[in-house]
Amino acid sequence: MTVKLTLPAQSKMLSQDFIYGVATASFQIEGGENNRLPCIWDTFCDTAGKVADGSNGLIACDHYNLWQQDIELIESLGVDAYRLSISWPRVITESGELNQQGVDFYLDILNELQRRNIKAFVTLYHWDLPQHLEDEGGWLNRATAYKFRDYADLISKAFGDRVYSYATLNEPFCSAFLGYEAGIHAPGIVGKEFGKKAAHHLLLAHGLAMQVLEKNSPNSKNGIVLNFTPCYPESDSEADIKASDFADDYFNQWYIKPLFDGEYPEIMSQLPAEHHPEVLEGDMEIITHAIDFLGVNFYTRSIYRANSDEHFFQIDAPEPRTDIGWEIYPKAFTELLVSLNEKYSLPAIYITENGAAMADKLVDGAVNDIGRIDYYQNHLNAVNDAIEQGVQVNGYFAWSLMDNFEWAEGYLKRFGIVHVDYDTQVRTIKASGLAYNDLITNR
Ligand code: FCB
Repeated sequence: MTVKLTLPAQSKMLSQDFIYGVATASFQIEGGENNRLPCIWDTFCDTAGKVADGSNGLIACDHYNLWQQDIELIESLGVDAYRLSISWPRVITESGELNQQGVDFYLDILNELQRRNIKAFVTLYHWDLPQHLEDEGGWLNRATAYKFRDYADLISKAFGDRVYSYATLNEPFCSAFLGYEAGIHAPGIVGKEFGKKAAHHLLLAHGLAMQVLEKNSPNSKNGIVLNFTPCYPESDSEADIKASDFADDYFNQWYIKPLFDGEYPEIMSQLPAEHHPEVLEGDMEIITHAIDFLGVNFYTRSIYRANSDEHFFQIDAPEPRTDIGWEIYPKAFTELLVSLNEKYSLPAIYITENGAAMADKLVDGAVNDIGRIDYYQNHLNAVNDAIEQGVQVNGYFAWSLMDNFEWAEGYLKRFGIVHVDYDTQVRTIKASGLAYNDLITNR
């Protein structure tokens, strides 16, 4: 166990151009619900049994009121960049105009970041779809992709040149599969026939938004953030390998292959026709719009075995695991980056999320989260290994700046490098936050 984060002396990750940041998302931290329209996560939280602790995002970290001190906190960590997301229902009215009060909230944040020389990495969609759009079918409705384009158009004009980087979507896999197939995220729709349809409209939304970003914000780095949970076979039997390859195509490649190759993985032919997305002529041209960067979120891997009824069966995650039950397996991070780099002609990569949930304890005003430091150390090393094998990684963001609303887990899982006391809203930098600061400031 280590209490300091280190990298080899010659590591590219120690250069001043390598960007270190912290990440958050609107619904997970903001609260301030009186100043925005309802979103699908409000509705999901209000549905009994959906969120583990029965909580919601109405106050969260009260960042809506505490944003100034939170930016001071970010600056005190010494990071180069802050990745935040914009709440669509805060900035766009039901009739599709800008809501100036909501826009001003973000303009104040962006101006303050600029004043302190912290680069703003803005994600336009981190899962908080306006509820009135869900009422019209949400991501199962093709029109939502065009609504997203219009929102991206208005907001990027309003933000002007304040943004260093735009990501259109965060983790379309989660929106599509968890939201419209497994039903464990908002809007909680269940059915294999829905996931791929939602995914296609999300990717279309991404491509359409890229068109307007290129026009309105040509100087920012514009791209998308995908999550990857690399799939491994339980054994080296041919059947297990086949099962894990299928899962990889279904969960991971499904979201990246269309971006670069303009087509879905070939396993589509093995899926029943009712599960297929409706791909119209010209869609793939829109989806393959060139991106300036690929955001990669990585937390864990998963392991599969062959199964006679389904294409794959996921086995329980082995130890060691974080507090949310995800296996700690940093080697998969290196292997993922190297394999993506081999499969696709990638632009520069930012690691837009990486981090660990731990059962933190605040003792005498401190959180000694050595397990999280260890996680970060091993995953920074894993990124460094990938860079040494030729992958171009230009930055790394810790998930998360602070403990926050962890979706279906509510406030039970803590991912922050800063501790949040939800009763008092007091923030305390954890040992991991201090170690991250030390790594960054001593480059
Ligand atoms: C990712 C999400 C992020 C956070 C982490 C733990 O899937 O993008 O909001 O919940 O997982």
